Amino acid sequence: MTDTLHAEHISEADIAGMVSLFYERIRQDKDLGPIFEANVHDWDEHLVVLTDFWSALILGTRRFKGAPIPKHAALPDLSWPLFERWLAIFRTITHDIGNPHLQHKANMMAERIAAKLWQVYKEQTVMTLPDTLPPGLEYYSQSPVFTPETLPEKLKATHTTKAGTYGLLRVISGIVRFTVEHSQTDYIVTSGKQIVIEPDVPHHVQFELSGSFQIDFYRSKDHVKRD
Ligand code: HEM
Repeated sequence: MTDTLHAEHISEADIAGMVSLFYERIRQDKDLGPIFEANVHDWDEHLVVLTDFWSALILGTRRFKGAPIPKHAALPDLSWPLFERWLAIFRTITHDIGNPHLQHKANMMAERIAAKLWQVYKEQTVMTLPDTLPPGLEYYSQSPVFTPETLPEKLKATHTTKAGTYGLLRVISGIVRFTVEHSQTDYIVTSGKQIVIEPDVPHHVQFELSGSFQIDFYRSKDHVKRD
């Protein structure tokens, strides 16, 4: 059977029911409950967003407009066991609903997304670059705002800033993967965050999640005087 046929056995009401049962249950969990209570300020709105999210994934509707990756990346102290616990509760709920099509599809997607959320979370926590410039520099120019459509090929390939130039890369939305060539290290920079690009460090940039970023360029005050 195709996914479309599976989807025919699943209604919007099934999805809304699944979301509501799941969050009712997770709010009572001793480990996960407090994280949600600390970060979800309007539960009615959260349930609408999450119903839109699951409806988009399972029924292909287009109501969901959120950004789960940066939102989870910003939560303090997540761990893989917490994601496993989230998944275990999710599987119990989808099992109890008694719709095998919904259960199969939702579980599969939840597992895939949990792995992705954790991957991004882990990378950004382990690897960080300075987000403030050293003293004695002054601003001298700015790049355009880059999106996946306008990101120049030369930034996707190995390059460095101009001699003596520091860049301050600010992610406006989405997620950027910044790779430093010599250490083969990837830095995940999420929406609202910034990193310093040091002079003479070969690197390349790509979008991990569609969005936009901009770079401000700085150089030492002495450098300007020599011009
Ligand atoms: C350790 C596991 C998880 C925790 C503690 C967690 C916690 C949270 C919290 C606190 C929010 C609200 C964030 C905010 O509005 O600023 C949220 C939003 C959300 N979560 Fe999770 N979550 C987890 C796993 C997952 C998984 C596995 C999925 C998907 C399969 C998921 C899907 C979403 C979605 C779609 C939103 C709404 C994002 C948006 O508004 O753009 N979460 N989560």
